[in-house]
Amino acid sequence: MKILITGGTGFIGSHLTGALARRAGYQIRVLGRAKKFKHPFGLPPDWERTVEVCAGDINDFDLISELIADADVVFHKVASVGVAASGQSIRHYVQTNIGGAACLAEALVKCKHRVKKVILDSSIAVYGEGNYKCARCGEVRPELRYKAPPHIDGKVNWDPPCPRCNGAIAPIPTPEVAERKGESIYAITKNSQEDLLVANCKRAGVPLVVMRYSSVYGAGQSEANYCAELMRTLAGGKSPMLNEDGLQTRDYISVSDVVRSNLLALDFDLHDVCHFNVVSGQHSSLLDFVTQVSEAVHDVLATPLVTPTVTGRFNPADVRHCHSDGGKIAKVLSFRAETDLQEGISAMARQLKEDLRLQDNKAAEIAGS
Ligand SMILES: NC(=O)c1ccc[n+]([C@@H]2O[C@H](COP(=O)([O-])OP(=O)(O)OC[C@H]3O[C@@H](n4cnc5c(N)ncnc54)[C@H](O)[C@@H]3O)[C@@H](O)[C@H]2O)c1
Repeated sequence: MKILITGGTGFIGSHLTGALARRAGYQIRVLGRAKKFKHPFGLPPDWERTVEVCAGDINDFDLISELIADADVVFHKVASVGVAASGQSIRHYVQTNIGGAACLAEALVKCKHRVKKVILDSSIAVYGEGNYKCARCGEVRPELRYKAPPHIDGKVNWDPPCPRCNGAIAPIPTPEVAERKGESIYAITKNSQEDLLVANCKRAGVPLVVMRYSSVYGAGQSEANYCAELMRTLAGGKSPMLNEDGLQTRDYISVSDVVRSNLLALDFDLHDVCHFNVVSGQHSSLLDFVTQVSEAVHDVLATPLVTPTVTGRFNPADVRHCHSDGGKIAKVLSFRAETDLQEGISAMARQLKEDLRLQDNKAAEIAGS
């Protein structure tokens, strides 16, 4: 089977490339901005036997047409990533994420060769604020918060109120059929990627699997991602700044679990379009998560233990809670995340230690030459 992985030199892509290179029977082509993998740890030593790396731009229509003309399955992973950074580089995110998906969509529609399946990496960012339950009104969906909540008697309740009765609400799992209400630039571009590929895969008769990941962590992550940036901040002895009260929640999933979900999607017998939330179910408040990461960095790198700083600052449109529902992927693909959060974080800290060691050696080499 011939597989094309756009963005295959990146964080998730390189782990997937390694997993496929270990399985027999695949010819793998990887498209990245450069010919180099961001990190080689996920790859087996003999990867060059089955993997070809192409450097190019996802907006190069001729190149993408040529690549998909020789592919049975396409994993589309190219993206500019990171919610926070996206607001500062709107044109760049739109060009890479929406432009790239448009280029792939047009190539799929125009190509005479029929690709058998496309698997798109999307994100739970597409939902914005997730589903909640109100004791009085039942299931509700609050809007994103653009204004900081008021201080009442010196206290702030950061949780959004019920959009109907203004009472207290609690997050509940958000299924794939929920309206996509994400409004960060990143979310807008991931939503557009989904729309472009859903419409055009249907037109071209190509089955499509849309995988909406929660926050992915693991070795080799781009620093635009929160976990990687956080580890480096902690390793440098700086206290991470947490917005609001630090009790906003997120789901964290290990890259090895994400790769397993990709392999299941590859083997999945599908004839149209299917969406999956890919989550671990291990929700954690930001404060708990950062504290856990801080302890792991302290244990593994033997650096001083750093305590996060809760700032009470509000960033308009930040999602307070989104617990996306992993029930569908469990039922249809028998997928369940296996990596324990604590163990996954420690493994990432061990990798960071190795990265820093290599970085120091290189600096010493340059200084000595
Ligand atoms: N990492 C996460 O937490 C997370 C969460 C949800 C969804 N996702 C999605 O998963 C996918 C992979 O994310 P990642 O964390 O591995 O990202 P990454 O930044 O590590 O990798 C991105 C890849 O895209 C390539 N690329 C970027 N711009 C390009 C261009 N113009 N032309 C050609 N190649 C280009 C890079 O070379 C790299 O190989 C993305 O679609 C992302 O939106 C990631």
